[in-house]
Amino acid sequence: MSGAEAVVPENLTEEQARAELERLAKEISRHDALYYRQDQPEISDADYDELRLRNEAIETLFPALIRSDSPSGRVGAAPDATFDKVTHGVAMLSLGNAFKEDDVSDFVERVRRFFKRGEADGAAFTAEPKIDGLSISLRYKKGALVLGATRGDGTTGENVTANVRTIADIPKQVRAADFPDLFEVRGEIYMTHADFAALNQRQERDGLQTYVNPRNTAAGSLRQLNPDITASRPLHFFAYAWGDASALPADTQSGMVEALARWGFPVNPLMRACASVQEMLAVHSDIEVRRAALGYDIDGVVYKVDRLDLQDRLGFVSRAPRWAIAYKFPAEQATTILKDIEIQVGRTGALTPVAKLEPVTVGGVVVRNASLHNEDEIARKDVRIGDMVTIQRAGDVIPQVLGVIEGKRDKSLKPFEFPKICPACGSHAVREVNPKTGKEDVVRRCTGGLICPAQAVERLKHFVARNAFDIEGLGTKQIEAFYEEGRVMTPADIFTLEARNARTDKPLQEKEGWGEQSVANLFNAINERRSISLDRFIYALGIRHIGATTARLLARSYDGIGSLRAAMIAAGDPEASEYEELNNIDGIGEAVAVAIVEFFAEGHNAQVLDALLEQVTPEPFEVEETASSVTGKTVVFTGTMERLSRSEAKVMAERLGAKVAGSVSSKTDYVVAGEAAGSKLKKAEALGVTVLSEDEWFALVGEG
Ligand code: IVH
Repeated sequence: MSGAEAVVPENLTEEQARAELERLAKEISRHDALYYRQDQPEISDADYDELRLRNEAIETLFPALIRSDSPSGRVGAAPDATFDKVTHGVAMLSLGNAFKEDDVSDFVERVRRFFKRGEADGAAFTAEPKIDGLSISLRYKKGALVLGATRGDGTTGENVTANVRTIADIPKQVRAADFPDLFEVRGEIYMTHADFAALNQRQERDGLQTYVNPRNTAAGSLRQLNPDITASRPLHFFAYAWGDASALPADTQSGMVEALARWGFPVNPLMRACASVQEMLAVHSDIEVRRAALGYDIDGVVYKVDRLDLQDRLGFVSRAPRWAIAYKFPAEQATTILKDIEIQVGRTGALTPVAKLEPVTVGGVVVRNASLHNEDEIARKDVRIGDMVTIQRAGDVIPQVLGVIEGKRDKSLKPFEFPKICPACGSHAVREVNPKTGKEDVVRRCTGGLICPAQAVERLKHFVARNAFDIEGLGTKQIEAFYEEGRVMTPADIFTLEARNARTDKPLQEKEGWGEQSVANLFNAINERRSISLDRFIYALGIRHIGATTARLLARSYDGIGSLRAAMIAAGDPEASEYEELNNIDGIGEAVAVAIVEFFAEGHNAQVLDALLEQVTPEPFEVEETASSVTGKTVVFTGTMERLSRSEAKVMAERLGAKVAGSVSSKTDYVVAGEAAGSKLKKAEALGVTVLSEDEWFALVGEG
């Protein structure tokens, strides 16, 4: 166990964060499959949101660790095979979440800051209920419904046209004169509470299985292979968005929704326009009050920037638009008994306390474990084993212990003593003092380092993780067993396993659960990885702060492991040009740069690396073909620009495949200088770097 799952994002070490992001990616994708494909979720939507939110919180704190298969980069699950696949011309995306009022004002702030000063100050927002159903895209050609497609993974969905045609709310033919030749209406299919209850009564009467909730029943009903079954289920529809369109009838969100209504699509009557954060929050309270009487499930309020031109410029970030956010209804609380406090040890030796609870249902989900954060929190709240505690499933973390119910404490309960030795190896566990700040670290860490089995195993698990060596048949379970048996203690051991296995008197094929064939398969899978892409190799080393994304950046910036290593050793001198070059890669900041340099300077790491390089050949990164005039170029923006804020400029350059750097060096291709550009402009001139005006930049990228 890494134990990291109980730690609040702020308290995670880099290693824990990496392990957590890996765990969350797997967990979320498993729940996606259960939810989207089998319509049979194991956890509540609120729990699912928490997983996603935790993933996002960790990614925000550790951007270097974002995985290439991050759940924040995709929506839903890949579609089932039983329906034809449909590729969405305009991707069907998801929404970012807000859980408290501040998140809403932050969102509004973010939107305003994105634009030039003052440009979006008065920009209005719309607010509408977030319908808890399933999203659908309806394609119309010359007014006729020609295709109904589910969201699927956001890019590819399923063709459910025949089923969609059975839904009365959905027009089969739109006759309005101003309806565009091609138009995709998007919205939510849902089932009302009354219809759901009636359906379940029928099921019960007929001795059939009853359904869990309206949402999954609606999803299951739509994805019937026999449209007659869909037709027998009362489904409804609300339109709130659009996809591909040959023309747009309005230039605002609210105007678009009015047009949808005029064309005969049901739209939600609770949509409001808002001019301020106060108004937005007032709509949320108002809708929350009405929630119980609506007759259908909603799980929050969606805010959208009203002006479509601003929506376009804001664009998207991974799976969600920057111009919209969903403010969810709040988390639930419960009380229960704290049965025990378990201490788990992570990859960097962090000791994490986890509350073991008398199982309790919170918001429809059974909770058994909760976070106790760290040693200081336990002391501050004076949490004792045996206490009655309040727990909360809050939006931003996994279940948390909020505090103790004082009046209920038994006098015999003793204050909890946080262990000072590691439960995995018995080494001293200490709280380091930060030399810079003089402050004690909140995390107590095992000092066992390499002798601590918990840490060593966690590192090996990272080495074979999905974004790393990803060896088929060598997962968490096998690593744990191999480590315990002494078969694999270091990464290089994986590659010498076959040779050693031929000589040992305890060969793997004689072990329970293994046979000749599975052992042969394992060795094949291992041998296939003797050649591996440089980015995976770098990621697998488990350098602090280096996630899959940063590993790719490094692999792209250096010719091979040899030149990377030489450069990092040279970069040990902060005055060396190698250090400046490393620091200048956009996406690599000071902390990351220091961590890489330190890693390569460490003698033990050098040994591990040498041993590994005797077994494995990392292949240099292939550069992709040029997609725009600035793809692969390094650009620095400086000074005040007329048409773009700094954030919009960065988004634009990255969209075109350029790298945006913070400072000018000989590696810089272009400096785009606005008004009052200062030292960066001077440096560019001194180095002979091409300097562009804002207009020249637009001309260069063909958007002039
Ligand atoms: S707008 C590009 N508006 O929530 C943004 N979505 O969590 C498109 N949803 O995939 C989404 N009610 O299935 C929007 N009023 C509403 C919604 C809504 C429900 C669903 C939709 C979306 C999901 C995101």
